Amino acid sequence: MEMKRVGYNDTVGGEGWGKRRIMRPIRLAIVGFGTAGGWLAGAVYRRRSWLEAECGASVSIVGVATRRDGFLSLDSGFDIPVLLELAAAQRPLTDYPGARRWETALEGLARTEYDVLAESSGTHPNEAEPALSHIRLGLERGTHVVTSSKGACAAAAVDLLALARQHGVQFRMESTVMSGTPVLSTLREGLAGARVTAVRGILNGTANHILTLMASGLDYPAALDDAQRRGYAEPDPGDDVEGHDIVAKVRILAAVGFGQALPLEQVVRRGISAITPEDVQQAAQADSRIKLVTTLGYRQEDEGSGTAFFPLEARVEPVAVPLTDLLSRVDGVMNALTIATDTVREVTVIGPGAGPEQAGQGMFADLAAIARSAAQK
Ligand SMILES: NC(=O)c1ccc[n+]([C@@H]2O[C@H](COP(=O)([O-])OP(=O)(O)OC[C@H]3O[C@@H](n4cnc5c(N)ncnc54)[C@H](OP(=O)(O)O)[C@@H]3O)[C@@H](O)[C@H]2O)c1
Repeated sequence: MEMKRVGYNDTVGGEGWGKRRIMRPIRLAIVGFGTAGGWLAGAVYRRRSWLEAECGASVSIVGVATRRDGFLSLDSGFDIPVLLELAAAQRPLTDYPGARRWETALEGLARTEYDVLAESSGTHPNEAEPALSHIRLGLERGTHVVTSSKGACAAAAVDLLALARQHGVQFRMESTVMSGTPVLSTLREGLAGARVTAVRGILNGTANHILTLMASGLDYPAALDDAQRRGYAEPDPGDDVEGHDIVAKVRILAAVGFGQALPLEQVVRRGISAITPEDVQQAAQADSRIKLVTTLGYRQEDEGSGTAFFPLEARVEPVAVPLTDLLSRVDGVMNALTIATDTVREVTVIGPGAGPEQAGQGMFADLAAIARSAAQK
């Protein structure tokens, strides 16, 4: 999509940029103004000088939507601190003066103009809507889309990436896997062109925290209780401890790393709620630790065939990991992913997999990547 060029004489102080450069306005619409969307808005404000200096972009927020408030639009751009103050005070965003309003995000997204949609309304790993419709609409209208909505990406990432290509825009979803820890950009950009043969990792911080506590002697109920008191686990912890959240991430990894749509029923899933102190002790006696391990790759017999379109094998299950294996030492709420390719062999990315600034950082990084590539056009 063409972004308007303004201010050929705008001067920015970024090192290496020289004195004069083109500053591109980027109009951002944020759908879902909760933990992730709200953090992104704050980062766009706090990092505006960085965006100008490093990406040559002047980002304004021209649309914002929540379920409660509908879609609000202001062509001249919202005053971001005012939006954030309204949200922090739990006041309706409709109190913002002078904004146009549509009943739903879909209506607003269809009837207003923006260059990038940041979508963070999806809250369940196995539910694609409402995020999927928002994302589709944005891409079909020829706008770039960044999202943290896992369920939509798990269900349709391959289709959405194709739709983005068809419309000549970018679709990015960094924060859906390991949150702000950059694994998808490692796959897409860092390892560009390499043939990914397998990925293996620990992709849920809550489950990993519980297993870490169990390794130090707690039983499952006590470890879960600790995770809930710290706010790591929901009152209903099923998505985290039974592996549903990870299944969504595996499906996204299949799309981004292997270009394949992985059906839900093709993922073998076992959670950690049945792990006993005896299982943990047995693993320790064998110089191992139990981890909820995710593996995704070609079936053994397909390896080395050179073709990337054999069915994938995907498993999420508790495994006794030997202490010599790096994954055995990834503790607490940390996540890790080892990517095996035909060129650089194995690359491991380790980092936190949840939290407001992590989810927001993932979306911010995607926004910055789009801003940078737009600046090069
Ligand atoms: N928080 C994290 O640590 C984290 C990390 C990685 C990925 N993510 C993912 O990011 C997504 C958002 O998470 P979150 O923590 O930011 O959730 P959240 O705090 O619950 O915020 C969700 C936001 O989406 C809005 N929303 C829901 N349905 C909508 C609709 N139909 N139209 C417009 N807005 C709608 C909500 O509005 P109302 O308040 O009016 O309902 C709210 O503003 C989830 O998919 C999550 O898995 C989160």
